[in-house]
Amino acid sequence: MTYPSRSSPYAGSASDSEYLNAQPPPYTQPDSNARYLSKSPAANASGFYEKGATTSRGNPKNWSRKCWIILAVCVIIIVIIVIVVAVVVTRENRYPDYSTLNYSLVDTFSGSSFFDNFDYFTGYDPAAGFVHYVDGPGSVALNLTYATATSAVLRVDLSDTDTTTGRKSARVTSKNTYNDGLFIFDVLHSPYGCSTWPALWLSDPSNWPTNGEIDVMEATNLAPEGNQVTLHTTKDCKMGVKRKETGKALTTNCLNSTDGDSGCGVQGSTATFGEDFNNNGGGVYAMELRDAGIRVWFFDRDNLPSDVTTSTSNSTDVIPDPSTWPEALADFPSTECDIGSHFRNQSIIVDIDLCGDWAGQTQYYNTQSGCPGTCVDYVSNQPGSAYSNAYWEFGSFRVYQAA
Ligand SMILES: *[C@@H]1O[C@H](CO)[C@@H](O)[C@H](O)[C@H]1NC(C)=O
Ligand SMILES: *[C@@H]1O[C@H](CO)[C@@H](O)[C@H](O)[C@H]1NC(C)=O
Ligand SMILES: *[C@@H]1O[C@H](CO)[C@@H](O)[C@H](O)[C@H]1NC(C)=O
Ligand SMILES: *[C@@H]1O[C@H](CO)[C@@H](O)[C@H](O)[C@H]1NC(C)=O
Repeated sequence: MTYPSRSSPYAGSASDSEYLNAQPPPYTQPDSNARYLSKSPAANASGFYEKGATTSRGNPKNWSRKCWIILAVCVIIIVIIVIVVAVVVTRENRYPDYSTLNYSLVDTFSGSSFFDNFDYFTGYDPAAGFVHYVDGPGSVALNLTYATATSAVLRVDLSDTDTTTGRKSARVTSKNTYNDGLFIFDVLHSPYGCSTWPALWLSDPSNWPTNGEIDVMEATNLAPEGNQVTLHTTKDCKMGVKRKETGKALTTNCLNSTDGDSGCGVQGSTATFGEDFNNNGGGVYAMELRDAGIRVWFFDRDNLPSDVTTSTSNSTDVIPDPSTWPEALADFPSTECDIGSHFRNQSIIVDIDLCGDWAGQTQYYNTQSGCPGTCVDYVSNQPGSAYSNAYWEFGSFRVYQAA
């Protein structure tokens, strides 16, 4: 005899009585089993159970409308969760393309003509400092700015004996402006001391905050927390996104009117500014401004990348390539900030403010740095010797732009 195959139930001969006797078809059971049969798996005319036909409760054909709705809702929820997770993961992983740009050297500020590249700011301090910014000839006469073949110094005045309306200092703004570039700042000494608020930064002061501000080096008083790198912008520039940086992210909205204009900052280690930084012979800060984002690197004197040219190696044939450097101290990707439109016409600015909106606050002057009394009293009453460390010293500034 031939048993029917699963695909051809009628392959067996109908006249094969041995088979028929041995395999009575279930649907020929007597009526006494009718109740049982009505609940048993449904068999088709061939005696084979239909796929999926189990019990009436499991049979979708018998499901109530309610069951179908619950199933549909569950499926929709799962699909939504999968889509939301995929979107969130994709969004969180967004990161710009920082691939190598073809840079060439466009500006070098160095040597005894260092300050020829700058204008001296003489107006009232926009940051409410207790300071008098001195013009170019005055700064040279008072030795507030001083440059030799190997370095350039900008300092707070030590000679002033009447400081009851503020002490003299200098603030210089580069004549050249930049929309993008790779900036290499060789810094030999950073200013520090009670009441000081020094910064090495870029901005377009006459179009602030429209054209943005990039604070490459900034600290207050004794710089107990090291350097803070910060951006200040108009609206729609946020940094709560994926970043690749060694520094500690502070507030992430760069909009000037949020968080009391504290900007979106990144804090470095204590070795990145002030006494520790100076004791190590300073270091090199590099800032790259490009459409993909803004990144700032700090290299201590003992760990300069081989392609970072310094004041001691005056070579112009080596072009620095950030893609070969270790992770940046601060990373401001363009993910949720159109860097190209927020940062334009940037001048390089160097100053040493006194007191004012940041250094003069109790929270920073007293609590953080442990300075005595009030900031204004300190400036008014301390002799010039209190400012012996309040000076910048630079090897050189170099600016590279992509061809
Ligand atoms: C000016 O300052 C520089 C750098 O601190 C110093 O070397 C130089 O002696 C000063 N010049 C005068 C005339 O004080
Ligand atoms: C660029 O910046 C300079 C210096 O701050 C300013 O005088 C000038 O008006 C600015 N130019 C434009 C086109 O914004
Ligand atoms: C922020 O910038 C706007 C101009 O865009 C200005 O009116 C406002 O005073 C600024 N706020 C602060 C806190 O600097
Ligand atoms: C890079 O720029 C230089 C100067 O403009 C040009 O000669 C060179 O061909 C460029 N190289 C690449 C790879 O684009």
